[in-house]
Amino acid sequence: MVEDCLSKFVQEQLWNQVPVAIALIDRDFRISEINSAFKEQYGGGVGRPCYEVYKGRKSRCKNCAAAKSFSDGKTRVREEKGRIDEGEQRYYIVHMIPLRQPDGHIPCIVEMSTDITLTKQLEHDKIEAERLAAVGQTVAGLAHGIKNVLMGLEGGMYVMRSGMDRSDEERIKRGCQMLEDNVARISTFVKEFLQFARGHTPKVKLTDPNKIAQKVYDMFYQKAAMAGIGLKLNLQEKIAMAMMDEMGILDCVSNLVSNALDACEISDKPGRSVSLSTLDEHGALVIEVADDGVGMDYEVKKKVFTNFFSTKGSDKGTGLGLLTTSKIVQEHGGKVSVESEPGKGSVFRLVFPRDRLPTMHKKEEG
Ligand SMILES: Nc1ncnc2c1ncn2[C@@H]1O[C@H](COP(=O)(O)OP(=O)(O)O)[C@@H](O)[C@H]1O
Ligand SMILES: [Mg+2]
Repeated sequence: MVEDCLSKFVQEQLWNQVPVAIALIDRDFRISEINSAFKEQYGGGVGRPCYEVYKGRKSRCKNCAAAKSFSDGKTRVREEKGRIDEGEQRYYIVHMIPLRQPDGHIPCIVEMSTDITLTKQLEHDKIEAERLAAVGQTVAGLAHGIKNVLMGLEGGMYVMRSGMDRSDEERIKRGCQMLEDNVARISTFVKEFLQFARGHTPKVKLTDPNKIAQKVYDMFYQKAAMAGIGLKLNLQEKIAMAMMDEMGILDCVSNLVSNALDACEISDKPGRSVSLSTLDEHGALVIEVADDGVGMDYEVKKKVFTNFFSTKGSDKGTGLGLLTTSKIVQEHGGKVSVESEPGKGSVFRLVFPRDRLPTMHKKEEG
């Protein structure tokens, strides 16, 4: 009794009321029956080949899922594109369910297609909106950085000019220094911005990690000494070579050392120091930069890898260093980890599992 009611309901109501286009496809790939939603969507189609109705084709599709379901009896689900009457592109989720008779024969496939064009459109709009927001944020950050430097340059020019008007050599020197500082700032900003924007495949070659660390040490030693900060280098002896983009990793380690020196400079503790180490640990190459500077609280630590996040004020920070660093490290299959405590200092580690480093093959592609 219940079964009769159910079958009547399916035949008379469900079949024609579901918002899903349903068609029965026979073994000649012709449509033998359709429901109302199908008729509405495709304007009919009984007796015509499915490929003609769905795709406007003259012959069967190359990768015909219905044929596969006829032969293996399996249900298939896939996303399909189609156009109605040469109109706009539409997207469907198509379920193909073989109707199996008690003797195992499959006379037809039930094809149910749900129109997901609206969902697809929303998905596309969301990606586009996010892309535009990211472009907007980047342009705003860039303009902000340039504006600050421009103000500095204008200030320097004013001081220098007024020094010249008054023949005040001290003032002229001060103006000159301001100009020099701001030219240095714009050069750092542009360099960091280019590192950030460069979407290059790493130019990898077999590299000695100790050589990179040594170069960074040499670059910063003088600056650290002048600020009264001890810079130490702990290189693991005979560390294995690694496939790396030497310039990219050098940029990363410089970013970390530069941040560590900044953190020590801000801190007023005596005997501040930064140590740069290389080591091999659990199958990974590790480059570590530790400092006993100001450290970071939870809120800062959470944001350090976002673009344009800087606590150094717009005259010193770009907020691009760590973001670029994590991007380059990821391109090498590695990760950046941070441990930090406010007032105590921070440890940044670049961890490169050796089995995930780029291979020679990638170099040839790049
Ligand atoms: N070693 C460190 N000690 C304390 N804070 C740090 C350290 N390294 C990074 N930070 C924090 O992370 C922020 C982002 O760093 P970064 O992306 O290099 O940008 P920037 O150096 O231009 O500010 C810094 O402004 C600082 O607040
Ligand atoms: Mg930095």
